[in-house]
Amino acid sequence: MLICATRGKSAGWQGSAGTRRRTEFDTGLSQKMNQSTALREHFQRLSRLLVDQAPIWRPVPFSLPELPWESQHPALAGALGRLSDEHCAALEADQPALVRWLADYIPALAHIPAVDTVPAFSADRTDYPAGFERDIPGRKWRQVSAFAACLEHMEGPVVEWCAGKAHLGRAIAQRFSTPVTALEWNAELCSRGSELSRRLQLDVTLRHCDVLSAAAAGELRQARHAVALHACGDLHRRLIETVIAQATASLDLSPCCYHLTGATHYQPYSQAARDSGLALNRDDCRLAVQETVTAAASNRRRRQQKSAWRLGFDALQRRLRGVDDYLPVPSLPESAFDTSFADFCGRVAALKQLTLPHRVDWPYYQHLGWLRQARVSRMELPRHAFRRALELWLVLDRALYLAECDYHVQVGTFCDRQLTPRNLMIRAHRQPGLVAGPA
Ligand SMILES: C[S@@+](CC[C@H](N)C(=O)[O-])C[C@H]1O[C@@H](n2cnc3c(N)ncnc32)[C@H](O)[C@@H]1O
Repeated sequence: MLICATRGKSAGWQGSAGTRRRTEFDTGLSQKMNQSTALREHFQRLSRLLVDQAPIWRPVPFSLPELPWESQHPALAGALGRLSDEHCAALEADQPALVRWLADYIPALAHIPAVDTVPAFSADRTDYPAGFERDIPGRKWRQVSAFAACLEHMEGPVVEWCAGKAHLGRAIAQRFSTPVTALEWNAELCSRGSELSRRLQLDVTLRHCDVLSAAAAGELRQARHAVALHACGDLHRRLIETVIAQATASLDLSPCCYHLTGATHYQPYSQAARDSGLALNRDDCRLAVQETVTAAASNRRRRQQKSAWRLGFDALQRRLRGVDDYLPVPSLPESAFDTSFADFCGRVAALKQLTLPHRVDWPYYQHLGWLRQARVSRMELPRHAFRRALELWLVLDRALYLAECDYHVQVGTFCDRQLTPRNLMIRAHRQPGLVAGPA
């Protein structure tokens, strides 16, 4: 069972360490300490689950023809192998059903839903003027407006980090009548965003800049609030660090792409993560964001084809090199999959400086690729049951770090998972009465 911290008006899990550089004793402090404890305890339960079950979620079926856990759980391995394509796809698309199914074979997995869930933030209704969302794709607008609806009142300048066309910035400017500076490094998005803001006569300025630059930190210094919707790895790390260093009054962040960082191994943010005994690599962080919204049948088939061709090439390269080891292949342009399987393999072999023999039984290796793809999609199911737990662990690490640095923090969801699986949101408010800056 999840221990519930205070569920006030805004719901979400809440916490704040508030233990350093306190200038006066806050009467609400003990309540906040309890909230902080709840957040930390939730994190510890998640850490325990992930550490204990690492032998199940860590091995990657794509690169390992035989998984180490198969010998310990032969009944599960057998049942996975017997799944029909339809049942496999249904379990892949339905996390609760997947966990229930897996728990018949590994009862400890029944605990996953108790720790990988957070409450939804409550949303305030905003009436936007007619046509406000024109030029914003429907799904994107629903995400943006849901995020904006979960924000608490904002007064004073706001910075939007990695803003794209600043759809969120405009929703905030409209909702709170406050100026927004939106930082974005794609010049075209900046100019489209500026045009949309001008048309709506909103005080939203798009700045063409790299958020990793000193100029971006300078922009944030002028602001009271920082927001970011779906800012990737190192970009949201810089945001969190800059917010803390400059004692920005609030941060509302929905992180994504935890694996997009310069570091090959995950660098924990919080002391709690450093003490957790869980060390993650880039593949682990990638797993956290592997869940996608249900794709159209054609997209699903395309994904399967890519996977089958890569696996077919993998079988071939093992044979050619005489080494039964996975050979990492970089990401390839879409066009690489619009050719024949033989051409695809030729291209990849050249990239890996492998010489292909004149005669290769292409239909055989292509067929092998599809057989392996069918197996991988089944053997990945146990690992996929941990995607949300890993994602929440990464989000709580960020939240606990902000709490360690004197922010009052809440973690919740801002929209339904069908709208975007990246629906986790950190809301952090600097506590009044605390001196600025990290220790
Ligand atoms: C996933 S998109 C999110 C955009 C927007 N927040 C949204 O939800 O529609 C990430 C954005 O970050 C921008 N970006 C990537 N690297 C950046 C950098 N170093 N500085 C500023 N913006 C960057 C990209 O161009 C892209 O528009």
